[in-house]
Amino acid sequence: MTQGRPLLNRRLTEFGTTIFAEMSALAVRTGSINLGQGFPDTDGPEEIREAAVRALRAGHGNQYPPGPGVPELRSAVAEHQRRRYGLEYDPDAEVLVTTGATEAIAASLLALLEPGDEVIALEPYYDSYAACIAMAGGTRVPVTLRPHEGAYRLDLDELRAAVTPRTRLILLNTPHNPTGTVLTRDELAAVAALACERDLLVVTDEVYEHLVFEGEHIPLASFPGMRERTVTISSAGKTFSFTGWKVGWITASPELVTAVRSAKQFLTYVSGGPLQYAVAEALRLPDSFFDALRTDLRAKRDLLGAGLAEAGFEVYEPAGTYFVTTDIRPLGDEKDGLAFCRALPERCGVVAVPNAVFYDHREQGAPFVRFAFCKRTEVLTEAVTRLKSLRAA
Ligand SMILES: Cc1ncc(COP(=O)(O)O)c(C=O)c1O
Repeated sequence: MTQGRPLLNRRLTEFGTTIFAEMSALAVRTGSINLGQGFPDTDGPEEIREAAVRALRAGHGNQYPPGPGVPELRSAVAEHQRRRYGLEYDPDAEVLVTTGATEAIAASLLALLEPGDEVIALEPYYDSYAACIAMAGGTRVPVTLRPHEGAYRLDLDELRAAVTPRTRLILLNTPHNPTGTVLTRDELAAVAALACERDLLVVTDEVYEHLVFEGEHIPLASFPGMRERTVTISSAGKTFSFTGWKVGWITASPELVTAVRSAKQFLTYVSGGPLQYAVAEALRLPDSFFDALRTDLRAKRDLLGAGLAEAGFEVYEPAGTYFVTTDIRPLGDEKDGLAFCRALPERCGVVAVPNAVFYDHREQGAPFVRFAFCKRTEVLTEAVTRLKSLRAA
């Protein structure tokens, strides 16, 4: 405190330490299996790691790379969007490389919002959304995804009702963390129609675009009228299992890229120079790489999901992402996910994350707990054994 004033400004006081830091520290202290934070416990392809080493040794990107990102990566992003989705982006004017998706989210919101603008976000939401909306002086308006017949779904009427004259943008996330929901073509078409009708921008976080086990990922930008009003965000971390590299990107119209770049240049200016060359190679991996990734993760999802069900949790089977959401109420007296997660490491040596922290309406998320399955099979098998001991205890 100085001058009798708290140091942290009012915009950020509600955001203490992220739950991931708290739970990961708990995992280390108790020697637990960490199924809290979404990072794989093995590195991505050796050839991509070697590409990064080669770039470092060759001096590619060791000094400030160009502000919008190295041309090789911008071209690879544009090629990827064309190859996977038939979307055409000019690598020079319509692609911007960022420090992970996290910076892309921050820069987009800082660039596009005026103080007081409303932002609709799907609740439960990835925790940086609320903090970035707050930093930009915006007001978040959550639209809650609710469990329905074994999966979480978006209520389109609720979404529509959330739009007001002050709404500036919709912050979408599909495939969705933490619920694993993949928005369907019909749902996306409805979001697109609403954005066009009410003249809204959309920032869409598609970092799990390649981790879809049921259905397909369809970029919102591919719907009629959306290309010019959508900032599409993705990143290398999840797709290539290098979450520590923090190389992300946006694709959008030249006007939107210019706006987002104006904010981004004063956040980090640039980062990950040599890694950008490696990610360019990664994006050009053949389809078989992406297929194998999906097959591997689907098996892990099934292993952990079945184990959690046997352990007594109600399981919402995710169609995508790294995560499975469970309801702890069938376990017995449990109904407070936060208390459950804080006690779980001591009880059985496993760390999970309470979904309540991803809600404004915390009561809506109270009994739900998220587990990550992007771990080695033997780690998941051991976690399941430990979780089953909850019943016996
Ligand atoms: C929905 C979502 N967006 C963004 C990120 C962050 O991505 P990056 O590590 O590329 O900054 C994550 C990471 O967990 C995420 O789940």
